[in-house]
Amino acid sequence: MGGTVLVTGGAGYVGSHVVVALARAGYAPIVLDNFANSSATVLPRLKHLTGAELPLIAADVRDRAALAHTFSTHAIDAVVHCAGLKAVGEGEAQPLAYYDNNVGGSIALAQAMIAAGVNTLIFSSSATVYGQPERNPVPEDAPLRPASVYGRTKRAVELILEDLAAADASWRIGLLRYFNPAGADASGEIGEAPTNVPNNLVPILADVAAGRRPCVDVFGDDYPTADGTGVRDYIHITDLAAGHVAALAHLARQSGVITLNLGIGRGCSVLEVIAAFERACGKPLARRAAPRRPGDIAICCADPARANALLGWRAGLDLDAICADAWRWQVNSGRRA
Ligand code: WQD
Repeated sequence: MGGTVLVTGGAGYVGSHVVVALARAGYAPIVLDNFANSSATVLPRLKHLTGAELPLIAADVRDRAALAHTFSTHAIDAVVHCAGLKAVGEGEAQPLAYYDNNVGGSIALAQAMIAAGVNTLIFSSSATVYGQPERNPVPEDAPLRPASVYGRTKRAVELILEDLAAADASWRIGLLRYFNPAGADASGEIGEAPTNVPNNLVPILADVAAGRRPCVDVFGDDYPTADGTGVRDYIHITDLAAGHVAALAHLARQSGVITLNLGIGRGCSVLEVIAAFERACGKPLARRAAPRRPGDIAICCADPARANALLGWRAGLDLDAICADAWRWQVNSGRRA
């Protein structure tokens, strides 16, 4: 256990929680971020939470010179690669930017790793690689038909990394398919702080509760689900981050590629999420019925059995914990602003 871990996108939502989880588990994280959708203000808070001075490399993951310099000045044992663009709609409008950042960035990173002799890599993939699942819960060997540019960039990186591991047996690669990460560290010190407008349900509910948005649009009430609204597998960001630490520990014991769903294995509807957020913030949240959002699916829920068995990891925090922690972060960050 332990070692120096480079976290690309380490100032972002997932990356910052991974940094905290790694530090708490005895690793020494290094943050690399270009602040495209995050801010350097998270660094002092990470220092406070972890009690450690965290090296920061303010650079783009496609910047080969910065990567070479990073690997030559730090004795890096492993990389957690979270850096990337992640807005589904934006990806449709700017496909080349998405392929360049997500695929090009991953290639540059893997090349820098090879040059430096580092062979342990965890990649932030997404349940979006499954597209419209044929059945739920979705196991890792379900058909892969990503329905968006964003999803195809994630699948493209998975394929590249699978090919890399097939060509060189020394690679140790974890492809982690996130379902719907939400919530914040229970400290209230870090959370989702996009500099772009949020697209995801829980941050939108936080905006409504904080009075920054008049109401939430419920995208579709006629899906074939119990209450007609979309069902997703919301996984607490702290559980998700712990999954990375568990995967890293596992990769120390097993080479090759492991592909794992990170989810709780239970689905919640939009109306259930709204109700949980109302319990968390203690006020009613205005909502209005809106048409289905293009590209949305009815149900997407993880079968996390492989991650449970292989890693001895399990997501245990429920929707109430997600909403309570998201709201605590919202209140704290509002005070700070
Ligand atoms: C959740 C549910 C919406 C907003 C997306 C990406 C995916 C992944 C995570 C990763 C759905 C409904 C939402 C709103 C609503 N990305 N909703 N009103 O769509 O499952 O997944 O984020 O990097 O790739 O596609 O998450 O949070 O946007 O939506 O009714 O204002 O909430 O229809 O049922 P989604 P989401």
